[in-house]
Amino acid sequence: MAKRHVISLFDLTSEEIRQVFKISAELKSEFLRGVRRPSLNGHVLGLLFEKPSLRTRVSFEAAITHLGGNSMFLGADVGWGSREPVPDFARVISQYVDVVVCRAKTHERVEELAENATCSVINGLTDVAHPCQALTDLFTLQEIAGSLDTARLAYVGDANNVACSLAVASAKLGVPFSIAHPNGYGFQHAFLDRVMEAAPGFELLQTEDPIEAVVDATAVYTDVWASMGQEDERVRRGEAFADYQVNDRIMASAKSDASFLHCLPARRGEEVTPEVIDGPQSAVIQQAENRMHVQKGLLQWLLG
Ligand code: CP
Ligand code: NVA
Repeated sequence: MAKRHVISLFDLTSEEIRQVFKISAELKSEFLRGVRRPSLNGHVLGLLFEKPSLRTRVSFEAAITHLGGNSMFLGADVGWGSREPVPDFARVISQYVDVVVCRAKTHERVEELAENATCSVINGLTDVAHPCQALTDLFTLQEIAGSLDTARLAYVGDANNVACSLAVASAKLGVPFSIAHPNGYGFQHAFLDRVMEAAPGFELLQTEDPIEAVVDATAVYTDVWASMGQEDERVRRGEAFADYQVNDRIMASAKSDASFLHCLPARRGEEVTPEVIDGPQSAVIQQAENRMHVQKGLLQWLLG
């Protein structure tokens, strides 16, 4: 069977996402009982990162180790796209590893890697998608809500890589999704067309009013206003997003037991107040923990 890639969540069917969640839940439960099954014994994971990372890098390294495999972090000196062209790099690294997790400055670079690789490629974040994050977030929402059948996810902030992947994950799993963003910071039309084509009937609300977005939400999500690579825009974005901070007032408009979610790292005092992210409704550490369990499920599903 041809190797599967996960470059965006458009690459997975709803059923496949549910399968990954099922495996992830089993592996998480086993892990919490102290069981580490070497089901991927001898498998090798390469980590190719052009941007910094704590969660993605370390959770993948821990995940493959718990499953009996090994990982290798590949720094800039491996020279993909600089020392040699990406297609050559992809064809060569495929001889050594079973799967590459790649975090790149541009989405096209990960696509080019995947097009030329004969090993699996997983997107570990690009400018337009963060599929492993969103998979984990919907898994976490399922844990929190007990089921996704009645869950509603609200996102307040920039329609960035994380928001795009959350929208696709929600669409695939039938979870109503709302987003509040300032004018000019929403989803691109082509992306929305693709989402609606992938999941006709998807309940999506786009608004400039954060209160409207969070009404009846099971979870309220936000992310930084300036992502990695947008540091020069930080001041302008700070002004544009000033009314989009997730604070007690916004949380009070969601369901009374709504959770607060954030992919991390966070900027307290900007997109979220310390009271919310460090308060009782915050599930951000559970999210971060679940990165490892869900990526184990994904690796097991891809390679097992
Ligand atoms: N949420 C997330 O992907 O974190 P890192 O950038 O630390 O990997
Ligand atoms: N949107 C953020 C997510 C970091 C995990 C970024 O791209 O920097």
